[in-house]
Amino acid sequence: MSQTAKCWHFTQRPTGNVNADTFTLQDDPLPPLESGQILVRPVYVSMDPTNRVWLSDWENKYMDPVPLGAPMLGFTLGRIEASRHPEYPEGHLVTGLGPWAERYVLTPDEAWTLFPEMPADQLAEAFGILAIAGPTAIVGLLEIGQPEAGDTVLISAAAGAVGSVAGQIAKIHGCRVIGIAGGKEKCRSLIEDFGFDAAVDYKQGNLLADLRAQAPDGIDVLFENVGGDILDAGLSFMNNGGRVVICGLISSYSKPGSEPVPGPYNFAELIFKRLRMEGFVILDHLDRYPRFHEQLVGWMDAGRINFRLHTIQGIESAPEALAMLFTGSNTGKLMVQFSAP
Ligand SMILES: NC(=O)c1ccc[n+]([C@@H]2O[C@H](COP(=O)([O-])OP(=O)(O)OC[C@H]3O[C@@H](n4cnc5c(N)ncnc54)[C@H](OP(=O)(O)O)[C@@H]3O)[C@@H](O)[C@H]2O)c1
Repeated sequence: MSQTAKCWHFTQRPTGNVNADTFTLQDDPLPPLESGQILVRPVYVSMDPTNRVWLSDWENKYMDPVPLGAPMLGFTLGRIEASRHPEYPEGHLVTGLGPWAERYVLTPDEAWTLFPEMPADQLAEAFGILAIAGPTAIVGLLEIGQPEAGDTVLISAAAGAVGSVAGQIAKIHGCRVIGIAGGKEKCRSLIEDFGFDAAVDYKQGNLLADLRAQAPDGIDVLFENVGGDILDAGLSFMNNGGRVVICGLISSYSKPGSEPVPGPYNFAELIFKRLRMEGFVILDHLDRYPRFHEQLVGWMDAGRINFRLHTIQGIESAPEALAMLFTGSNTGKLMVQFSAP
């Protein structure tokens, strides 16, 4: 008897945020394992803003989009349930980019790596911080932002996965850190849970005035996760020689490729203030992950990086979970738990 597994397929391109019609849950056949293949059961699937980019009709993206009709993809921590590959033994944990499915058969390439075994309660945190958010914060902040002690660092979407880690790394390096986030609770958390020096609630509608008040000496490093008005506001307070890290532009990810994205209108500040603006894709730095992990685990063990996970249960919840990133309803690193470790 042939076996099947539930899998979310991308069935309708959304305009705006993902919705109930974007994906369809189907029963897919599970083929028998061939030599060199493994059977993976996802435990945690990371929800990342860039997942929405893979569903858009934009051109020139950094990786192929998910074709209409194909299984939706996500960064995954899974358990190898059966193996015909000598380097990926049965029973081990493995990470890589895989379908939103209960189980699937794959031939692992160099983007799939074994993940260390650890107690179940530590697994979610290790995957949440080590898979994407932590390495992204390190490359963006330290290598592109190049902060020096005494610098003022401004971070947007600061209460989220990448932003909260980037802010704490900036504090470790002796910077004054200001975070922008939506709502009182997230701003409280920035200061009380993550040790930021100041927080600005952009939903209050006084972004420019509030930033001016919190950054009277200007900004040296802008770690941008949002784009649009928030990027423009940050650009207007940059100091001479400042660095603008383009980590993400989440406010534009849901726009159709045919629609112009706003700004940055204050682009001329790059000349007047002699700024450097640089973007990056963390997938280009996978070969340096062991070093990033060592650094992050060291900070976590020393209690210097706090981390908040937001875990949603069940494969059925994956579409609604992805939508939460774009309404700000996630409080911390968003993941869906597909099965028990
Ligand atoms: N370059 C890379 O390789 C790389 C890798 C990973 C992530 N990133 C980028 O890093 C950024 C953060 O990702 P994450 O995974 O850490 O997600 P996250 O910050 O945990 O969650 C997304 C947050 O963005 C904010 N947001 C969403 N739409 C917004 C809008 N229109 N205006 C203002 N804020 C908005 C919301 O926070 P509020 O409630 O505060 O509005 C939401 O909670 C994203 O832009 C992502 O694309 C880049």
